Amino acid sequence: MTAALTVENLYAGYGKATVIRDLSLTVPEGSTVALLGPNGAGKTSTLGALTGMVKVTSGRVRLGRLRLDGLTTYQRAASGLTLIPEGRGIFPGLTVSENLTLAADSARGVDRAWRTRQMRRVEEMFPALGGRSRQRAGTLSGGEQQMLAVSRAFLAHPRVLMMDEISAGLAPLIVEQLYKAVEELKNDGVTIVLVEQYVTYALKLADICYVLGRGSVRFVGEPAELRAGGAGFSYL
Ligand SMILES: Nc1ncnc2c1ncn2[C@@H]1O[C@H](COP(=O)(O)OP(=O)(O)OP(=O)(O)O)[C@@H](O)[C@H]1O
Ligand SMILES: [Mg+2]
Repeated sequence: MTAALTVENLYAGYGKATVIRDLSLTVPEGSTVALLGPNGAGKTSTLGALTGMVKVTSGRVRLGRLRLDGLTTYQRAASGLTLIPEGRGIFPGLTVSENLTLAADSARGVDRAWRTRQMRRVEEMFPALGGRSRQRAGTLSGGEQQMLAVSRAFLAHPRVLMMDEISAGLAPLIVEQLYKAVEELKNDGVTIVLVEQYVTYALKLADICYVLGRGSVRFVGEPAELRAGGAGFSYL
């Protein structure tokens, strides 16, 4: 197994408060890993520590063989570590089309034909965005903004795509559309780290689940083990 992302003994936090403690996880190339756990468990902070937004006090993070420690958030993103953050995975002041173009411009090792093909795929996937290319992204509905955020992931060709609760506050039909798109990304072979409260989708897509609690890993296993309730996590 080749690891796309490796986290070893990570400690991270805000100011003097350590909120991630001794967290280790491995995301195999091409797999989907779900990070689950109750409110405040440390899911968002973990993603923040990986992108360089949250201060890491010790531990190691690698993207493939590249050590990320010491790299800036920008350098990590440029290496292919992409995050769709909770609620704001787009540039609200730019148009829909500019948002997509910027994502496509950040893609590494792709040609024009690939870009055109991906553009066509997202148009088909999210007809709600059709004809809106010159609209400012910030004026789209919440669901449409999230569709745009996921569309950007199709164009950015990420090495590892991390998503933080893309379903939050959205209607079930929209969540279903978003997750159909995520499933396509998975089938394309994209390595995915999924943080989700909507565990139904997370358990359906994930190959491996990490359950966090108080900033540490409480359980690692396949979705079936969690569904069976063997781990005894009441929030599921
Ligand atoms: N900006 C911040 N400053 C200080 N403490 C923070 C900050 N953000 C989060 N925390 C604390 O870090 C811990 C982990 O929070 P985090 O947001 O990572 O959890 P989460 O698993 O993403 O929760 P949720 O499911 O509510 O999104 C919590 O105790 C939280 O209060
Ligand atoms: Mg969170």
